[in-house]
Amino acid sequence: MIRTYILNKSYFISFEGIDGSGKSTQAKLLIERLNSNSIETCFVREPGGTKISEEIRNILLDDRAEEMSSRTEALLMCASRAQLTKNIITPELKAGKWVIADRYSDSTLAYQGGGRGIDLDWLVRLNNFATFGIEPDVTFYIDIDPNIGLQRRKNISADRIESAGLEFQNEIRNKYLEIIDNFSNRCVLVDGKLSIKEISHLVWKEIKNRTSFE
Ligand code: ADP
Ligand code: TYD
Repeated sequence: MIRTYILNKSYFISFEGIDGSGKSTQAKLLIERLNSNSIETCFVREPGGTKISEEIRNILLDDRAEEMSSRTEALLMCASRAQLTKNIITPELKAGKWVIADRYSDSTLAYQGGGRGIDLDWLVRLNNFATFGIEPDVTFYIDIDPNIGLQRRKNISADRIESAGLEFQNEIRNKYLEIIDNFSNRCVLVDGKLSIKEISHLVWKEIKNRTSFE
């Protein structure tokens, strides 16, 4: 369900992409821009965002001796999402805030669907259950070559999923491109090779086009 923005009404925006694509950078810049235009925002990042969701995040990203099954990974991602949606996203949207998410349900389709090879229909149903049917109004997918992502993150220590390798990131990227094609009304593909400033400008232009916000 795509909602249109009406003055003083909420809006839900997600950023997606492989690791190192620049999502967090753009989410932060967008929030600064919205706040300077007197729009109240709420930032969330997945997995995590509530006490229970952060505990689930620790289980998900820690490199443990026991190998995590792909189904466990998918279920935990969705468990974290259900908690975040119920306790933070829905109340904030109801309160009229703009919610800016660094990853949401498309990450599960791309990582657990593309990366781990879980059947997409299962994941779509699981996501629908976890999100209570809520979808972002607009999703910015920042597309980059995994080699660039890796290069950009070379000074940041990798978690369990990020350290799964280049081939894994390639599978995820391909699945993202498929998803973007399937949900072309909601999703906007952004070239991640552009500069931080250029991307931020494109994001802002798109939001202004999609809302009655001036
Ligand atoms: P993500 O949240 O997608 O993992 P980040 O926003 O944390 O990515 O960015 C990873 C690194 O790449 C940071 O050092 C950031 O400054 C840099 N970066 C982000 N966007 C760009 C860009 N368009 N061009 C060059 N470097 C970028
Ligand atoms: P994080 O440190 O938040 O990475 P990033 O800054 O790139 O977003 O780690 C989250 C990791 O979890 C990242 O590798 C993507 C992965 N992930 C999934 O595999 N499935 C999901 O549904 C979500 C939300 C994240």
